[in-house]
Amino acid sequence: MRLKDKIAIVTGGARGIGQAISELFAKEGATVIIIDLLPQGQQVADEIKTHGGRAEYHQISVTDKAAVESLFKKVFGKYGKIDILINNAGITRDRTLEKMSEEEWDAVIDVNLKGVFICTQAVVPFMKENKYGRIVSAASNVGLRGNFGQTNYAATKAGVIAMAKTWTLEFGKYGITANAIAPGFTMTDMVNKIPEEHFVKIKEGIPLRTVAQPLDIAYGYLYLASDEARFVSGICLTIDGGTSR
Ligand SMILES: NC(=O)c1ccc[n+]([C@@H]2O[C@H](COP(=O)([O-])OP(=O)(O)OC[C@H]3O[C@@H](n4cnc5c(N)ncnc54)[C@H](O)[C@@H]3O)[C@@H](O)[C@H]2O)c1
Repeated sequence: MRLKDKIAIVTGGARGIGQAISELFAKEGATVIIIDLLPQGQQVADEIKTHGGRAEYHQISVTDKAAVESLFKKVFGKYGKIDILINNAGITRDRTLEKMSEEEWDAVIDVNLKGVFICTQAVVPFMKENKYGRIVSAASNVGLRGNFGQTNYAATKAGVIAMAKTWTLEFGKYGITANAIAPGFTMTDMVNKIPEEHFVKIKEGIPLRTVAQPLDIAYGYLYLASDEARFVSGICLTIDGGTSR
């Protein structure tokens, strides 16, 4: 088991990539603390327990600083450590720049960027105390390449990569690593609004001629969250079928 006895917080773990990360981490021996707004996060935790794993679900927003701080304090009090933080929660509000409202800009910045700031700031004191930590945050290949209609989203994903590099400098001496993952097109609810005919075009633009499944991305998180990656920090691991190169 690659995460035996680790305590891992996974934001946005109720569905999609976050669900795959939660299930994989539990299978590898971690106790998984799922944070999400969707009540179905409870089902994910229950399912993990049915299969002999350890999981908790907490219905809070990553943007709620007081709730996040209070939960992390409770988790640390209960388990005596927090080893891993996966900043996976994210949203889109797509619109071309000329049509994008201030509300659409703010909503995406709030969750994808400020949520990562809030959760990481809340976890670092506990990681420092144990001189161990793995912080892995959800970027996107859109943060490397830009994307039509995603000014807000692209800005947050580029920001996440820069934050991982900054935290590497600030926390490396405490045994804490900080990295980002940049998935390409992955089959989840986030992308299921895209019309079928666009799919053919999307696949044609990917060298491997297929899109990712959530587990393809979760394996990247597993590596960066494990002891095996102890000398890896400040990187952005791109998992996009060869699209960004
Ligand atoms: N699916 C893709 O193609 C793709 C590609 C690149 C990057 N990503 C990134 O990967 C991450 C996961 O994406 P996904 O496709 O699984 O998305 P998803 O929409 O299926 O899941 C995101 C989860 O985050 C939760 N969430 C949203 N706002 C929250 C908040 N304020 N507090 C707590 N939880 C919140 C949602 O309820 C949901 O369960 C996101 O950060 C996304 O930007 C996805």
